[in-house]
Amino acid sequence: MTSNDMDYLTIALPKGKLFEHSVSMLTKIGYTAEGLSENSRKLVIANEAEKIRFIITKTADLPTYVEYGAADIGIIGKDVLLEGNKDVYELLDLKFGFCRMMVAVPQALKQEKLSDYAHMRVATKYPRVAESFFHSVGIQMEIIKLNGSIELAPMVGLAEIIVDIVETGRTLKENNLVEIAQIHPATARFIANRVSFKMKFDRINKMVEGLKPLIESESKA
Ligand code: PRP
Repeated sequence: MTSNDMDYLTIALPKGKLFEHSVSMLTKIGYTAEGLSENSRKLVIANEAEKIRFIITKTADLPTYVEYGAADIGIIGKDVLLEGNKDVYELLDLKFGFCRMMVAVPQALKQEKLSDYAHMRVATKYPRVAESFFHSVGIQMEIIKLNGSIELAPMVGLAEIIVDIVETGRTLKENNLVEIAQIHPATARFIANRVSFKMKFDRINKMVEGLKPLIESESKA
């Protein structure tokens, strides 16, 4: 960590579904910067007066930035955290971005039991989570890692099954897929780099204390 890094608090935000709500929560507790937008071409946006720096990352990469201390703190989905298995502190459940990790198949391929799918191909953005789920239920599968639009894979014969997140259920429905097993629920989490949490404890703790009542009030709303 350079002395310049010590002066700033660097906050990583993920592009995509969690971005807007993350910015809104942080703004409500006084952390923002001019031009902080998901569509910004600038990937580092600073608030010089407050000595805050925002970085905008691809979702799956965010825990890596925090693990290595390139960002002190960040907001990311529990699904991504579980898949990435990075060495970071998970400080708060922010209780937004509700979704669940599940297993789904095309309606026409639905079998009676999970074990009827043994040795079939599973398309997923979450190979670690999928592997560990099927291992836990004693079924061996062939895992195919994809980077998005997972629902496409069974429609074109790349895989028979998918492991993915579902939020509203709309994507499953529109592609004639049905959920056959739940893996775990997920929400957005506030995470910190282990060294930053010690070195910048006062600043990070102030954010945590600011976020707590906001999480409470938002989850009651
Ligand atoms: C996620 C997920 C599903 C969809 C679920 O994809 O992978 O495809 O959202 O949401 P729903 O239940 O509300 O329809 P995302 O939009 O993040 O993009 P991706 O397919 O490129 O990963």
